[in-house]
Amino acid sequence: QTVRRPLVMGNWKMHGNLQENAALLQGLLQAGFSAEEARVAVCVPAPYLAQAQALLQGSAVHWGAQNLCREPVGAFTGEVSARMLADFACRYVLVGHSERRTLFGESDHDVLQKVGQALQAGLIPVICVGETLAQHDAGTTEAVIAAQLQPLLAGLAAADWTRVVVAYEPVWAIGTGKVATPEYAQKVHAFIRAQVAEEAAEAAQGLQILYGGSVKAENAAQLQAMLDIDGALVGGASLKADEFVKICRSFR
Ligand code: G3P
Repeated sequence: QTVRRPLVMGNWKMHGNLQENAALLQGLLQAGFSAEEARVAVCVPAPYLAQAQALLQGSAVHWGAQNLCREPVGAFTGEVSARMLADFACRYVLVGHSERRTLFGESDHDVLQKVGQALQAGLIPVICVGETLAQHDAGTTEAVIAAQLQPLLAGLAAADWTRVVVAYEPVWAIGTGKVATPEYAQKVHAFIRAQVAEEAAEAAQGLQILYGGSVKAENAAQLQAMLDIDGALVGGASLKADEFVKICRSFR
């Protein structure tokens, strides 16, 4: 069986300032993560990428962005391109976070284009999928996830799946304190892996699938115990260095 290195990623969302970021990043650096531990990364607001790069370069903590433009260059006022992110040595970029989908109307087609841009620029797209509460209650979780994955499965080459990360974030668990049970999350993660395996059997075994949605220090260990949960995408709890470090250390 393929060994997948765990990955724990913080998504700061639209929080922070120069001073708070510096303290938070120092806290992560002080943890002194080693290569035997989970890989650790933070996705910071675009204006702070230079700060993240300056402080984290050469350390075990990687950094990334939270969004990118679906076009490579041009008259797109207010947008940030994949190549700009690469200029700041981002390793990752979140794509299709539920907040982007619901608040900013991003479609599955936008997600596919953004993933393509990220890959072309050498970034690792972290593709977010997940069902809403209504979809969950209607028992349509797998159908919703399958529909979100479908354009990607059709549009990406098998080899591309070795250069992406998937994050399963049930929308009802995001920022609500309601974490999915480990068993429920495991079931969806296994479903995602099986879907990817249909197009890219080998890559699916190595694919890192992260769980996101109210991950805290107190529930991280149970999640990490699940076979197909390869790490976490952490919102609120990633803004506190101590707690985020504990979460990172829970994933082995
Ligand atoms: O991307 C991570 C996020 O959506 C989960 O947020 O605050 O529930 O950990 P939170």
